[in-house]
Amino acid sequence: MEAKLKQLQDEALQQIEAAEGLKELNDIRVAYLGKKGPITEVLRGMGKLSAEERPKMGALANDVRAAITERLEEKNEKLEKEAVNKKLASETIDVTLPGRPVKKGSKHPLTKIVEEIEDLFIGMGYSIAEGPEVETDFYNFEALNLPKGHPARDMQDSFYITEETLLRTHTSPVQARTMEKHEGKGPVKVICPGKVYRRDNDDATHSHQFMQIEGLVIGENIRMSDLKGTLQVFAKKMFGEDREIRLRPSFFPFTEPSVEMDITCKICGGKGCSVCKGTGWIEILGGGMVHPNVLEMSGFDSKKYTGFAFGMGPERIAMLKYGIDDIRHFYTDDVRFLKQFQTQE
Ligand code: PHE
Repeated sequence: MEAKLKQLQDEALQQIEAAEGLKELNDIRVAYLGKKGPITEVLRGMGKLSAEERPKMGALANDVRAAITERLEEKNEKLEKEAVNKKLASETIDVTLPGRPVKKGSKHPLTKIVEEIEDLFIGMGYSIAEGPEVETDFYNFEALNLPKGHPARDMQDSFYITEETLLRTHTSPVQARTMEKHEGKGPVKVICPGKVYRRDNDDATHSHQFMQIEGLVIGENIRMSDLKGTLQVFAKKMFGEDREIRLRPSFFPFTEPSVEMDITCKICGGKGCSVCKGTGWIEILGGGMVHPNVLEMSGFDSKKYTGFAFGMGPERIAMLKYGIDDIRHFYTDDVRFLKQFQTQE
C-alpha cells in the first residue's frame, strides 16, 4: 500500500509538471484528489490493515495528498500568470490607428433664440424671472384682471388640472408673481422665459406646448413711448437694422392700452407677399401699459407707478428669422432639422 501511494504521488506530480492549461490541471485535481480518485480508494482499503499500520498509512496518505495539493497550487498560480501575460500581450493598443470621429451635438434652435433674446434684454438692464408651469387660476387669470367668468378667458383654451390649478397658458402670471415679490416698490425690470400650454390642435402654426418670453417694466413715469422704443431696439437687433415696426391697437385684459406689434416683412421688403399675406407686415408680439387693476392687485400704487409689459413667442421669432415653415419642427427632434443650426461653439 505504501508503494502504491508513493507511485500515485509520483504519477500525479509528473502529470502536474506536464500540464499546459488550467483546465488540464483541474482535471488532474479531480482525477487524483476527487471522491472517486485512487487515493480515496486506497484509504478505503485501510480497514484491512492491522491496528499498527493504519495510522502510519493514514499519515502517509495525508502527506501524499498534501504534496499533490501544494504542487497543484503552485502550478495553478504559474499558469494563471502566464495566461494574464498572454492576454496583455495580445491586447496591446496600436496607438498609430486613426481615431474615430466624435459626433458633436449642437444647441437647439429654440434655445439659441431664447438665449439671444435674453442676452439682448440683459444688455438693456433686465434680469430674468421664472415661475411654475403648473400655475394657480389666481396668478394665471385673476391677478391679471381676468376674474372667473370673464369672457376673455376663452382667448386661451386651458388645460385644467383641478378647479384651481392649470398648466399656465402664458408667461404673464410671472409678472404678477414678480410684482408681488417687489412688495409695491419699483423699479421692476424683468423678462420671463418659459413653456406655456394651450388646448390647441397641433398644426404648422399651433402647438399645445410652446414658449413665451414676457417682459415687464415698472417704475415712475414709464410711458407708452418707452415700450415703443424698447420694442424698436429689440426688433432691429433681432431682425436687422432695416426693419420697421408698427403698433396696432389690440386688447388684453391686463394691459390698457394694448397693442400688437408688427415688423416689416423681410421676404418682400414690405411690398406684400404670401408670407405676410399681402400686407407687408408680420405680427410678432403683444403688449401694452400694465392695467392699473393689475398693479393694485399686486401691491403697487397705480398713482405712483406705471409700467409696460409685452409677450412674445420665440418659436414664431425663430421661424421668421430662420425661415422655418412648421412649428412642429421644434418638437419632433429630427436630426436633419437640428443639424442645420450647428455652429462652432
Ligand atoms: N400674455 C399675452 C398672450 O399670451 C401676451 C401679452 C403679454 C400681452 C404681456 C400683453 C402684455 O397672449
